[in-house]
Amino acid sequence: MSARIPTACFLLLIATSGSFAESTTSQGVFTEEQAKRGAAAYGANCAGCHGADLHSTDREVPDLTGRPFKDGWVSKTIFEKFEAAREMPPREERSLTDQIYLDIVTFILRFNKVPAGATELKSDEQLLRQIKIGDPG
Ligand code: HEC
Repeated sequence: MSARIPTACFLLLIATSGSFAESTTSQGVFTEEQAKRGAAAYGANCAGCHGADLHSTDREVPDLTGRPFKDGWVSKTIFEKFEAAREMPPREERSLTDQIYLDIVTFILRFNKVPAGATELKSDEQLLRQIKIGDPG
């Protein structure tokens, strides 16, 4: 009994104060709805090269699932992958809105079995820098 409650209160305090550095996607940081919107935008803007099932058929174009997801996405922050997505498509960098790029990132995460949650993810740089992509297994 003794030490547990104060410890819990202290953890809650740092978690809510905003100075606590990190959370992970295993907590459900985007919604199913958002990932669905992302799927539509991905289909229109990305699938032509990266494949509808995130497996590309072109050797020059990386897959966005399987090994490349584990190696290139897991443990990175959402911000890093959001930045990578904004560089796309080649020669048409930033042709979409930040929110649409972020929706596409949530679709890629969802496709790779990252859980959805109750709140939409907003394209707030500070926030995105604090969320690490957890290994969905
Ligand atoms: C014209 C073909 C083409 C289109 C369309 C395209 N990509 Fe790419 N993408 C590439 C190529 C080629 C690379 C590897 C070279 C590079 O990084 O520039 C790449 C690399 C990436 C990477 C970096 C690899 C990784 O796993 O981090 C991401 C993320 C990505 N693309 C996401 C997207 C998204 C999101 C869209 C749609 C908005 C998109 N791409 C549209 C060709 C394309």
